[in-house]
Amino acid sequence: MSKIVVITGVNSGIGRAAAYKFAELDYEVVMACRRMERSRQVQEEIIQVTNNRQVHLMHVDMSSFCSIQEFCKDYKARFNKLDILIHNTAYFNHGAQHQLNADNIELTFATNVVGPYLMNEWLRDALSRAGEPVILHASSNIVKHFFDPKKNLQFEHLKGEWSASEPFSVYKQYCESKMALVMLTFYLAEKYKEDGIRVNALQINGARMSPETLNKFTLKWRLAARAQNLFFPPPEKMAKCYVDICTSPRFRDVTGSLMNDKLETMVRAEQEPSALQAG
Ligand SMILES: NC(=O)c1ccc[n+]([C@@H]2O[C@H](COP(=O)([O-])OP(=O)(O)OC[C@H]3O[C@@H](n4cnc5c(N)ncnc54)[C@H](OP(=O)(O)O)[C@@H]3O)[C@@H](O)[C@H]2O)c1
Repeated sequence: MSKIVVITGVNSGIGRAAAYKFAELDYEVVMACRRMERSRQVQEEIIQVTNNRQVHLMHVDMSSFCSIQEFCKDYKARFNKLDILIHNTAYFNHGAQHQLNADNIELTFATNVVGPYLMNEWLRDALSRAGEPVILHASSNIVKHFFDPKKNLQFEHLKGEWSASEPFSVYKQYCESKMALVMLTFYLAEKYKEDGIRVNALQINGARMSPETLNKFTLKWRLAARAQNLFFPPPEKMAKCYVDICTSPRFRDVTGSLMNDKLETMVRAEQEPSALQAG
């Protein structure tokens, strides 16, 4: 029986490149996407180029809990098990105004943290029916700032809360959400051990962004991101990390790990006493 991978947010960037790679490896690929028209074009391209006809497209809006619930229900009606679940989607419309989702959760947190949590919970039974199930969360090297001993941690922000008296910034909220996603990785890795589901996170440190992604930013942020793009590697580099973390025998027993783009596990503070002393 073929192995099945679900990847969220697959119509551009790293998600799209990862879907290509898994299709080339003969996986059954489920593209979990919001904008269906654009995503259908990508699905057709992948099928044509890789000659893998088992590339499916299913609708999900990761900011809508109702949509995630529908997706999980539909997925389980169509497929018996799930081998790999990759949370690639993220909301990072830098410069945008503060927005809530339909459940009154700030949009960055709803999309980047609560959405993946709910999908993991609602697909846990399908994952537990696979041989060596694995979940991967796409985090960012932005989390390194949290390890600066001088950083003033604001725990409300880490829960996605923002007081009305402070100026709101999607960028800051994005940083907090990527740290919360790492914390969620550690929590779920422990919780899912009894089902044999591994949960890891990748610290992505830059991948060339598509014009569509840049167009979601306000002008100031778009100009800065265009300049950054000149130095960023193509998305295929990070897509290869997705594939390696989820499929390589080297990581068969690895769970609760935050990895960098060299696939090294970031060292925990208790294993690095000097880091604790610095605080
Ligand atoms: N590129 C970098 O330099 C970089 C650096 C650090 C971390 N990362 C992380 O890497 C991951 C991929 O980034 P990328 O650069 O490849 O970005 P991207 O090309 O913009 O891909 C994000 C995908 O998510 C989809 N998406 C956004 N909101 C969604 C929602 N509510 N429901 C479903 N799909 C949604 C987008 O599609 P639509 O908007 O069309 O629906 C798009 O396909 C993200 O988690 C990002 O935070 C990237």
